[in-house]
Order: sequence, then structure tokens, then C-alpha cells
Amino acid sequence: MFFAATRLKKVVLGLFAFTLLTLSNMANAERSGEKIFYTYCVACHMSGVAGAPKLGSRADWQPHVDKSMETLLKNSISGIKAMPPRGMCSNCTDEEMQSTIQFMIDSTK
Ligand code: HEC
Repeated sequence: MFFAATRLKKVVLGLFAFTLLTLSNMANAERSGEKIFYTYCVACHMSGVAGAPKLGSRADWQPHVDKSMETLLKNSISGIKAMPPRGMCSNCTDEEMQSTIQFMIDSTK
């Protein structure tokens, strides 16, 4: 009985440590713009929900690209019109937001 309880404790601790490690790895590794796009932004920016500029559409993106990257980044972080702050990727860093915007702009070339 005592033996079983100690074993169980070890298993639980092991699982806990594993979860922590996995989570901190996820938080540290910068994700690619493409990966973030297909996880968070795809919902609106693929089909153009509520007027979102569509992936790959030069016509849609032109008026946005005319602003500076700085402005685009600022707007997508704080939210703009129908777009919620950070496009709902609340754990996206500013760097990740920028590489995702770059990914979308590159898709129109
Ligand atoms: C809920 C829908 C939605 C999601 C999710 C979303 N967007 Fe948007 N996004 C919009 C809409 C709508 C606009 C057009 C806003 C406007 O009318 O100027 C927009 C515009 C933009 C612009 C142009 C901003 C400007 O200043 O012209 C950028 C850049 C952008 N989105 C990036 C992203 C990124 C990066 C993600 C994912 C992390 C994302 N969006 C997720 C709806 C969304």
C-alpha cells in the first residue's frame, strides 16, 4: 500500500515536470508567421470575414501595405475596427505579430 502510494506520487510529479517543461518550451520558441496565420488569423483573413484583407489578394492588401509596417503592427496589436486585439492570439509576441503580417504581405507578391 505504502509502496503503491510512493510510486503514484513519483508518476504524478514526473507528469507535472513534463508538463512544465513542455509549456515553457512552447512559450519560448518563436513560432513562424505561417504557423500563427493558420492557427489564429485564418478564421478571418482567408475568406475576408468582416472586410479582413484576404491572404494572397494584392487588391485587398494594397491600401494596408501603403501604411508603414509600424502602423500595421500597432493596429493589429491594439485591434482595428472588426479585428480584435492581436487577432485573438493573446499570447503572440510583437515579433510574432510582425512576422505574421510579413507572411500575409509576402503572400500577395
Ligand atoms: C475576427 C477576425 C480577425 C482575426 C481573427 C484577425 N483579423 Fe486581422 N483584420 C480583420 C479585419 C476585419 C481587418 C480590416 C480592418 C479594417 O477595416 O481596416 C483586419 C486587418 C488586419 C491588418 C491591417 C491593419 C491595418 O492597419 O490596415 C493586419 C496587419 C491584420 N489584420 C493582421 C492580423 C493578424 C496578424 C492576425 C492573426 C494573429 C489577424 N489579423 C487576425 C479581422 C481579423
